[in-house]
Amino acid sequence: MHWRGSGMRHSIWRRWFLADTGSGNSLGMTPAETPIALGSDHAGTGLKATLRATLEAAGHPVLDLGTHGPESVDYPDFAAAVCAAVAEGTARFGVLVCGTGIGISIAANRHPDIRCALIHDATGARLTRQHNDANVLALGARMIGAEVALDALNVFLTTPYEGGRHDRRVLKLSPGWSPSA
Ligand code: RB5
Repeated sequence: MHWRGSGMRHSIWRRWFLADTGSGNSLGMTPAETPIALGSDHAGTGLKATLRATLEAAGHPVLDLGTHGPESVDYPDFAAAVCAAVAEGTARFGVLVCGTGIGISIAANRHPDIRCALIHDATGARLTRQHNDANVLALGARMIGAEVALDALNVFLTTPYEGGRHDRRVLKLSPGWSPSA
């Protein structure tokens, strides 16, 4: 699907999404090299559509894994589809939306190799990339507005993981680690 807004809006979003870094982001990848998998339940379709339009306008390949209509669905099913795309490398990052972001983030974190952060602002988005190397962003459509969500998404996609002291902790989030080991 292509951006359906005016050319002017398109270029504003594009500039806004690439503002920090010119042609690429601080992860060393251009948007074209950074596919994003999107998923939501019925409560998240409106915000998901906004996120999708913005990502596409910025040049990201977008894999929209649904849901696509207003019918009531189960958020763990869409978390599973997005997490599979991230885990197998079809998408670099996943973005999930439900009413609160809570159920879909809990569901996502049941999947091995997924570190999903429920985020309410750009500060949380920055810190979860820097400290947790989060690879899936969860948002609550009933909790935050589109502008705040877009700011958080932009920061999430352009902030690198810091490594260093965080490596030891992130390793303890992996499926192979057990508290008793
Ligand atoms: C759906 O009504 C709602 O429960 C879901 O979107 C989410 O908020 C669950 O955590």
